[in-house]
Amino acid sequence: MNYEVKLEKLAGKGKALAWHHGKVVFVPFGVPGDEIEIETTKETKSYDEAIIKRMITQSPYRVEPPCAYFTSCGGCDHQNIEYSRLLTFKKELLAEVYRNFIKNGLTLEEIHPSPLPYGYRNKIHLHGYQNKIFQVWGFYHYENKKIVNIESCPIAHDLVNKAFQLVLNFLKQRFFQFFLMVNEIIIQVDAENTAAMVTLISSKVLDPPKSLYEKMKTILPELSSLYLYHRKNKKGYLFKTAVDDSLENLKDLKLLGGNLLPIEFANLKLNISPLSFFQVNKAVSETIVKHLENELTRLSTKPVLVDLFSGVGALSLPLAEHCEMIHGVELVRHAAELAEANARNNSIPNFTIHQGDAFEAFNRLLQIINSQAKVLLIDPPRQGLDRELSIRIGAGDFQKVLYLSCHPHAQVRDLEIIMARGKFRITKIQAFDMFPQTHHTEVLVVLERV
Ligand SMILES: C[S@@+](CC[C@H](N)C(=O)[O-])C[C@H]1O[C@@H](n2cnc3c(N)ncnc32)[C@H](O)[C@@H]1O
Repeated sequence: MNYEVKLEKLAGKGKALAWHHGKVVFVPFGVPGDEIEIETTKETKSYDEAIIKRMITQSPYRVEPPCAYFTSCGGCDHQNIEYSRLLTFKKELLAEVYRNFIKNGLTLEEIHPSPLPYGYRNKIHLHGYQNKIFQVWGFYHYENKKIVNIESCPIAHDLVNKAFQLVLNFLKQRFFQFFLMVNEIIIQVDAENTAAMVTLISSKVLDPPKSLYEKMKTILPELSSLYLYHRKNKKGYLFKTAVDDSLENLKDLKLLGGNLLPIEFANLKLNISPLSFFQVNKAVSETIVKHLENELTRLSTKPVLVDLFSGVGALSLPLAEHCEMIHGVELVRHAAELAEANARNNSIPNFTIHQGDAFEAFNRLLQIINSQAKVLLIDPPRQGLDRELSIRIGAGDFQKVLYLSCHPHAQVRDLEIIMARGKFRITKIQAFDMFPQTHHTEVLVVLERV
């Protein structure tokens, strides 16, 4: 069915919405303010989904997307919205998600913009489909698992784009038989464009060509490390396959040369590996650290900080001087080892790491930390916290809980459980535009003991 609407606002997941005869319609790649004729692709009792058929009057906030793959590549949804206006639209959306908490004088702060609206991503994960005749390398299509062939990605750092092309051409021209067995490539760089880590992933156990690292380094001098990963399961996060592996013995990950990726972050020198988490937007993550620091320095005494999902320690190690002690908790063994090494390399004596599951470690830590001045930092994976853990946090005696999330709906679900005991009140909801041009946002919620 075709009909005309005016798009009112963003609806999340990359869509804009309008109302039509009391029914909501969702339109991907629409811009609020667009007057359009649409064609429905799905009709249900409560909502329609539709695509833009004809532009009647373009929104004043519409801009030309710089990327040739926009609307086919699944990476970005909002390159066609002027950046400052996109932040306003994202804020309106967040105000709805957090509406139950925005009351009694508490407001949603302005979204902290990314200093780089493009060129900010330090990591890309490419998928390949190839045979002897043709090769397709890129990201998944926005509506299916087909791979969109790309040559560069405008939200990625220059060095990511440079490495991407050089590595593909190098493997294709010099090691074609080996290259045909590679299914995925991860490229991760430091923000200064001086070091690049490349991980080749294959569903097969491969015998890598001799001196591949040294040869690749001649065309990409920034190459700090080259890894080969054997992916046994087609789906899922890579880190989940290596939870119990130590750095010395990464079962499915083979180092072909170089070492880890060195990253300067918040005045520290950190090392990361392909299977350890690191935030994709360095400048925004450093701003988040400043906000966390601000929360700690406002306390009357230096607290004991529990960093429950610490990764390699990126968020809590820079806070060390404001803490009496930091207890990091990280499930992935080699990420925990890296956190420990990062503390040592930066001469931070008051950081200790507990490798294991957050829930178990949380219960153990509460028994051994005697201090009254305790702060909890939680930055869980996208799906958020387990229900049991949220209940325990809500019953805890932390002075402050600093909850950072890249999934506002999951965060709100957890906050409702944490707040149910009535021991905490929310004092701040601050969003950061960690992922410009996409519908994603990072949100820090500060809770204080009542
Ligand atoms: C979103 S990342 C945050 C890492 C860190 N805060 C940073 O900013 O670099 C979440 C981290 O939690 C770890 N993780 C996942 N599940 C966990 C669990 N059940 N217990 C402890 N850590 C877990 C992941 O390995 C990952 O390092």
